[in-house]
Amino acid sequence: MSCFTTGSPPSCGLSMDNDSSPSNTSRRNSLSDVSVDLESSENVYLVTGGAGFIGSHVSDYLLSRGDKVVIVDEMNDYYDVRLKESNLNYLSSQHSNNLKFVVYRGDICDKDFIDNIFKIEKITHVCHLAARAGVRASIADPFIYVHSNVEGTTRLLDLSRLYRIKNFVYASSSSVYGCSNLSLLSEDDVVEKPVSPYAATKKACELLAYTYHHLYGMNCTGLRFFTVYGPRGRPDMAPFKFIDRVYNSLPIQQYGDGSTSRDYTYIDDIVDGVVRAIDRPLGYEVINLGNGRPFQLKAFIQLVEESVGKKAIIELCPEQPGDVERTCANINKAKSLLGYDPKTPFEIGISLTAQWYKNASSNGLFDSNEVTSSSNETLVPIPSISKQKSIDKLKRSESDLELSSFVEKATRQVHMRMKRFFNSPTK
Ligand SMILES: NC(=O)c1ccc[n+]([C@@H]2O[C@H](COP(=O)([O-])OP(=O)(O)OC[C@H]3O[C@@H](n4cnc5c(N)ncnc54)[C@H](O)[C@@H]3O)[C@@H](O)[C@H]2O)c1
Repeated sequence: MSCFTTGSPPSCGLSMDNDSSPSNTSRRNSLSDVSVDLESSENVYLVTGGAGFIGSHVSDYLLSRGDKVVIVDEMNDYYDVRLKESNLNYLSSQHSNNLKFVVYRGDICDKDFIDNIFKIEKITHVCHLAARAGVRASIADPFIYVHSNVEGTTRLLDLSRLYRIKNFVYASSSSVYGCSNLSLLSEDDVVEKPVSPYAATKKACELLAYTYHHLYGMNCTGLRFFTVYGPRGRPDMAPFKFIDRVYNSLPIQQYGDGSTSRDYTYIDDIVDGVVRAIDRPLGYEVINLGNGRPFQLKAFIQLVEESVGKKAIIELCPEQPGDVERTCANINKAKSLLGYDPKTPFEIGISLTAQWYKNASSNGLFDSNEVTSSSNETLVPIPSISKQKSIDKLKRSESDLELSSFVEKATRQVHMRMKRFFNSPTK
């Protein structure tokens, strides 16, 4: 495994005109301006966001099947950086002697940095998972979302065009469905009313991918993930939060009578769907990757209690205006185009997640007294989420309890959240 930081970006002395000015537009229709040798006998997969939850699992899978994987991640502190470092440590322990595993630390928006990676590593496939994720934080600071998600995706699409990448697969999100009151969410639904900056950036990525497909014939598949959970899961998501709070005897809030249900997708099924999409260039497609079997909130809480081995302290709260009764991914398209067939029942998935959590917790991974920021500098300073704020996050404030998949439902909720954020003492 090789590891590079943004302080020492690779350089190969080749120059490439990647000017995005309009005067270059006509040249872009031809790919003849690529000045490097693009012949490569092996597939090389660029996994952006590879230190994150889904990216580290996808990388693990690709490395295990013998592929070359190049990870790029800026290791930002949207959540505790130790979790991302631990993901990379896990990968390097699993693939320690693997010369096909390279990690670069840096921002996907940094043109020279990322351009050099395409050049040096001879990338053939892009699996673009890097993003600022999370609905609530995007309401608080939309600008870093536009930076990482929209500018970052455009940068990667443009380099993929230039280097004639065989397939560009990227993460979209079920959040693009916004306030839809349909209980079965399908790719053909009109999704033009995103209710958070995060959702709007994800929709923008789908539109940009279409444009690159239209102009240059690129293969671009967008995957709309439905609440992904599992070992090494994101701490801002409901499955992790519920397990964490029940394990630590902290109260959890149940909105309404707990009868609302949501589609949760186990990480192994998502990895299977992502890899199937990478292996199958499809022109332009947007595909739901969910479980297709929604689970009720109150049953979810019971399951967490059983898996953790403790009773939950439940605070009953009034139903949130705008919360829909049930959301469920229509996964027929994924089945027919990708052969996707999610296999993990929620009961099994939560139990595996709780097992991982208990292990990681007893190894001190979630200890709140020693929050470290990334040991190497991140390329772009992150003004809105300071170290102090990450420490506060670990204090597990009450407002953390919102289910991220429950968040994007009503204008009033968004308003309440804004109010709470701006009144928060950490702001
Ligand atoms: N987890 C879910 O339930 C879910 C649901 C819908 C969509 N998604 C999408 O799937 C993708 C992966 O999500 P995840 O849950 O693994 O999130 P994650 O936050 O664990 O991983 C994303 C990674 O991207 C990196 N990153 C962010 N901006 C970057 C930049 N500018 N340059 C380089 N690296 C950058 C972060 O440091 C992080 O490690 C994201 O695009 C997310 O929006 C996730």
